[in-house]
Amino acid sequence: MVSSLESKIQSFIQGTSLKNWVKQAQSLSSTYRQKKNQTETLSSDSLRIAYLCSRLPATYAAISYVFKELQKRFDLSSIRSLLDCGAGPASVLLAAESFFSLQQATLLERDPGFIKLGKLLSHPTSVEVTWMLQDVTKGIPSSAKDLVVASYSLCEMSEEDQLQIIESLWNKTEQIFILLEPGTPKGFPFIRKAREQLLNLGAFLLAPCPHRESCPMAKNDWCHFSVRLPRSSLHRQLKEGSLNYEDEKFSYLIFSRAPVSTSSSRVIRHPFKGSGFVKLKLCTESGLIEKTISRKDKELYSITKRLKWGDELK
Ligand SMILES: C[S@@+](CC[C@H](N)C(=O)[O-])C[C@H]1O[C@@H](n2cnc3c(N)ncnc32)[C@H](O)[C@@H]1O
Repeated sequence: MVSSLESKIQSFIQGTSLKNWVKQAQSLSSTYRQKKNQTETLSSDSLRIAYLCSRLPATYAAISYVFKELQKRFDLSSIRSLLDCGAGPASVLLAAESFFSLQQATLLERDPGFIKLGKLLSHPTSVEVTWMLQDVTKGIPSSAKDLVVASYSLCEMSEEDQLQIIESLWNKTEQIFILLEPGTPKGFPFIRKAREQLLNLGAFLLAPCPHRESCPMAKNDWCHFSVRLPRSSLHRQLKEGSLNYEDEKFSYLIFSRAPVSTSSSRVIRHPFKGSGFVKLKLCTESGLIEKTISRKDKELYSITKRLKWGDELK
């Protein structure tokens, strides 16, 4: 996360008791743990600020990871406008500014408290930003945009609403549509369902799936990826952890309006790197496969020994 953003977040809690923020961060994470489908908005400014301190760094890192995946297969310079559904404190816009030359962004959010914080965090910006106080289950009052994103937001809605909103968001997509949710057994079934729905609507899958066949992931398993982010000292104190990093797990989908090329497989678990061999779990058109590449296969071995969880393999 850029340091100016980190300083802004810290300024919200400067001069106040850290103990109180530790309590707020715990209360926030128990709110998220207990969450069923539909939730009420975070009920206080303290909880929203706890979100900025303890969750925004992670969602920002996951969003940035997904933008990097997009960049591998798509020319980002054509993206000039953004529609963000469930924008929270502007997380997507904040991350997007490092990747795209955006001219305009429309951010839909039902919580006035988050809109207030999002405006503070995203100021100053060269992007013309339109915030809309909007419950997206009641409609998406925006024109079509080049890039449409729903990050960690649709899981907060009922299944019926999710399906209808996905279709509406896809109808507002000029070029790229991105869905991002927690990489958990609870978050993934939604991603799996959304994948099927969007393929049926004629969307082209850009990542992470290297094919448009049925998702081969077993029913009791979940396809997810991971990004490591540094924990600032404030972040560490709020999470009462000693590690100076954390791993954010997420599931995502990138769809395109236009046909795109994909790789033939993707690494879906940490590779096992032994002495003279690499073992990979790959998602392919023919399903999930395990592949062992020996040092004897010089060319492939030199490629695969550098591969990480989430990478493509040609
Ligand atoms: C977990 S936060 C994610 C915020 C941000 N997108 C991110 O990735 O950090 C979920 C956001 O979705 C918003 N949200 C949930 N249901 C909504 C609805 N029906 N209409 C508009 N916003 C909604 C919440 O108010 C909250 O700000």
